[in-house]
Amino acid sequence: MSLSPFRDYSNVFVVDHPLVQVYLSEIRDRNAEKSRFQKVTRKLTSFLVDRVTADLEIEGGFTVETPLDVQAPAFRLKGRVAMVPILRAALRMMEAAEDLLPRDTPIWFYGAKRDEHTFRADRYYDDHIPNPIPNDFQMVIVADPMLATGGTAGDACTFFKERGAKRLAYIGLIAAPEGIKHMQERHPDVSVYVCAVDECLNDRAYIVPGLGDAGDRGFNTD
Ligand code: URA
Repeated sequence: MSLSPFRDYSNVFVVDHPLVQVYLSEIRDRNAEKSRFQKVTRKLTSFLVDRVTADLEIEGGFTVETPLDVQAPAFRLKGRVAMVPILRAALRMMEAAEDLLPRDTPIWFYGAKRDEHTFRADRYYDDHIPNPIPNDFQMVIVADPMLATGGTAGDACTFFKERGAKRLAYIGLIAAPEGIKHMQERHPDVSVYVCAVDECLNDRAYIVPGLGDAGDRGFNTD
């Protein structure tokens, strides 16, 4: 899979894969059924997790015995990874993330609710997120399907930096240029992985053309 750095930003990556564009088109369609929306969100998340973990550090120096009674070189992560779904829309991304990530990966829920007038998101849930973040975590991956204004993702990154996260990355389905700009200005050290960068935000801070409200579409609410 190849990746194109977005415009002149070196740490924003649009997953450049034909299937990603095909799947994304399916869930942009307002007539996509909820079950399809969920399934395709999982597929797209697999592509994103594949990319965001591609340069994780591993260590070797030990072996496992195979059924052929011989030793094979073996590897493990040099430091754990934590996954952070921003409630609630990112819950639909978790199944795919958990499938790919090692089984000792903790899931740290981070709840933020957007005020529909100011578009600012206030944090309302951060239970079970360690403070400080233990030193053996090499990466914290923040997931939220839509990087709109960037306010929520940006606040989450600030929160995790204040708790001592060594390395942060963000994964999402679609970004608006405004969200990318916000992340670049506030967190130029955080790598951003998305499936597409759309045109703009509308006056309700929805991404255009986008896919609508990812939480409502994923959970059949309005
Ligand atoms: N959140 C969404 O779910 N969709 C958008 O377009 C913007 C924010």
